[in-house]
Amino acid sequence: MTFKNKKILIIVGGGIAAYKTLDLIRLLKKNGAEIKTILTKSGKEFVTSLSITTLTGTKTFENLFDKELEEEIDHIGLSRWADIIIVMPTTANFMSKLTSGKAEDLATTVILAADKDILLVPAMNVRMWLHKATQKNLEVLQDYGYLFVGPEKGEMACGEFGEGKMSSPRQIFFFLKNYFHKKNIVKDKNLKALVTTGPTREYLDPIRYISNESSGKQGYEIALALDKLGIKTTLIAGPSTFVVPKNIKVKKITSADEMLSEVKKTLPVDLAVCAAAVADFKPIQKNKNKLKKDKLNFESINFIKNNDILEFISKNNKSRPRIVAGFSAETHDVLGNSIKKLKNKHCDFIFANDVSKKDIGFNSDFNKVSVIDKTGKIKSIKKNKKSLIANIIAQILLDKLIDDRNIN
Ligand code: CTP
Repeated sequence: MTFKNKKILIIVGGGIAAYKTLDLIRLLKKNGAEIKTILTKSGKEFVTSLSITTLTGTKTFENLFDKELEEEIDHIGLSRWADIIIVMPTTANFMSKLTSGKAEDLATTVILAADKDILLVPAMNVRMWLHKATQKNLEVLQDYGYLFVGPEKGEMACGEFGEGKMSSPRQIFFFLKNYFHKKNIVKDKNLKALVTTGPTREYLDPIRYISNESSGKQGYEIALALDKLGIKTTLIAGPSTFVVPKNIKVKKITSADEMLSEVKKTLPVDLAVCAAAVADFKPIQKNKNKLKKDKLNFESINFIKNNDILEFISKNNKSRPRIVAGFSAETHDVLGNSIKKLKNKHCDFIFANDVSKKDIGFNSDFNKVSVIDKTGKIKSIKKNKKSLIANIIAQILLDKLIDDRNIN
């Protein structure tokens, strides 16, 4: 029974494809899932409560203030009950409501209150899907962490052809099967990750230091994304101001030496992602007192190279994580230089970053990366919010981790 003990809340939206919800319910029930449903006002125009109830064996929830059902379960209770929430079909109007955080009926209130993943299954006319407003909403919702299946290309109920057709119940079924398969592995194997992020500071004296432009945002977002996948994550962070959810263990450090020492304490893990912009050099000596300007002579300050933390992790035979990934900050020959780093530092993945541009990379909310794996395969992730890029990276890393050859 693929879906044994899995609780799925299906919100039936208002669209001609709503009738396909019945097929999905049938498939999921046959495979052991427990189903509850919310039938929206516009969903009722397309399917009846009776047909859903006949399949699920339980009442449909319909109103935010339902005296009869309130004792049984409230809107918070419904979202806590579910392992995942599905909105099917998701109309353009519903996407717009979620983008602005509306809580105007039972469906939108449950979603806003949810602490679980929410899967949206869009279905609409091709023009509505491709409209700039809907595409903008899509970006925002992906950034908020909503999951999507489809839409597909095909002939629509209105007779037009294009992108906007709802994925089939079988496609949704297989998405869910894969989703729970990954969740089970993460839990059963108790997968752990460490992420380094932020700049490091190498002090000359109590107030002067050498550092760099990194904000730490990309690594922070990766830690959040890994945590969302259920991976126990430790974030080893140089100076930054992010508020980190309490699930994630944070180790604040200042210098590269401190970062390395925390990395050593955190190993072993299954996955290491080095996103930190570690200062390459440190002064050999840190002065106890502030150096006076007239006595400060740069030629007399001696620097040595910091240890390479990424290299330490990936060459550490005793407790090498199954997957080691690094970032590569480059201003020129981005791919060529990144491939060299991947090889020299024995990584499984390198995420190449062009840091010559002002609108992406260091100190920006946006990024654009090329994912290079150790076989030399390159996949480009187009410019997007760092949070969305982090979600994609986290998925790639998890997929690699649970690849059979790695997990056993
Ligand atoms: N890195 C590290 N420890 C260092 C230097 C770098 O762990 N002392 C890691 C970074 O976290 C990143 C990768 O190595 O994952 C590449 O860092 P980058 O700054 O792009 O390159 P460097 O190795 O420092 O080389 P260069 O400055 O010459 O480009």
